[in-house]
Amino acid sequence: MTGTVLRSVIRGSGSALPERMVTNAEMATMVDTTDEWIVERTGIRARHLAGEGETTSSLATLAARRALDAAGFDAGSIDCIILATATPDQTFPASATIVQHNLGCRGGMAFDVAAVCSGFLYALTTADALLRGGNVRRALVIGAETFSRILDWEDRTTCVLFGDGAGAIVLEAVAVDPADPAAPGIIASRLHADGAYNDLLYVDGGPSTTQTVGKLRMKGREVFRHAVVNLASVLEEVLADAGLTSAAIDWVVPHQANARILDATARKLSLSPDKVIVTVDHHANTSAASVPLAFDEAVRDGRIRPGQLVMFEAMGGGFTWGAALVRL
Ligand code: UT7
Repeated sequence: MTGTVLRSVIRGSGSALPERMVTNAEMATMVDTTDEWIVERTGIRARHLAGEGETTSSLATLAARRALDAAGFDAGSIDCIILATATPDQTFPASATIVQHNLGCRGGMAFDVAAVCSGFLYALTTADALLRGGNVRRALVIGAETFSRILDWEDRTTCVLFGDGAGAIVLEAVAVDPADPAAPGIIASRLHADGAYNDLLYVDGGPSTTQTVGKLRMKGREVFRHAVVNLASVLEEVLADAGLTSAAIDWVVPHQANARILDATARKLSLSPDKVIVTVDHHANTSAASVPLAFDEAVRDGRIRPGQLVMFEAMGGGFTWGAALVRL
């Protein structure tokens, strides 16, 4: 007789974008840049930017409601909300508690995770541990950001790269037979950090140092170099943990920082670019929101389907990076 194990199964996803969409041509009226430079260097053509009243928690709440609807679950049945963000509404309390209140549920756990662009992978892996440990039955994992509020709008090397938005998934603990290759759920995940690289990507403010919110600073070319190497290595690790090769992957849902990083990572893994979900062209880099936003878009347009094997991956400030392999 084969034993069963608890796995975290994705039951639904949702996303939300600010109403205002800003093209590269509009960016060129704000800073010394061109549509041609932005498209050629990054693949970005447009981004959504939060307007008055649109906050990290409001976008996160909308994405969470849509994920709950897709799963067919009541908000009251969620006993854990983890929100990945580097742009919370307030220094404290955690924006996850605001989302919990907005959703009309109470009593379960709710907290934020700060791992910048890798935040969704960190939140997902944390939720997975809680679900597999039997502490939680249903969890909402959200990535939500309003990076436009921490950009230096006079620095063309960074302000053209980012956008705002939110994505969410609902996870449920399900007993599966681990020997069954078709069993759904998170199969393997790995997280990493190396704090030696703080000065390549950071915000120059904070409550404990300057008592200001600060602005994003990035040495893009160096971050780019590390991103390709770290992502390829963590993807290999997760595949090895799962006992699979890249040929088994149906879709890669990467963090959307730069189309050239997506291409280079796919090449390193000998993966066809057709298997990579790309939203950087119309979302730009939405930090912790980018992976769940891209996932939800591809689920809703029918590309990602039940039964498929999906790899999530991200790398960002810290540095932090990680990947997770999921059977839908
Ligand atoms: O999400 C977290 C992880 N973040 C990333 O993964 C970002 C990784 N990095 C990148 O995506 C790329 O490095 C960037 C898109 C940020 C920059 O592309 P690059 O090809 O590395 O360009 P660069 O920084 O080396 O700059 C090349 C030139 C410079 O001019 P000079 O010094 O060669 O005369 C910049 O001043 O492009 C200039 N430049 C611009 N020109 C027009 C920089 N930003 C702009 C701009 N418009 N917006």
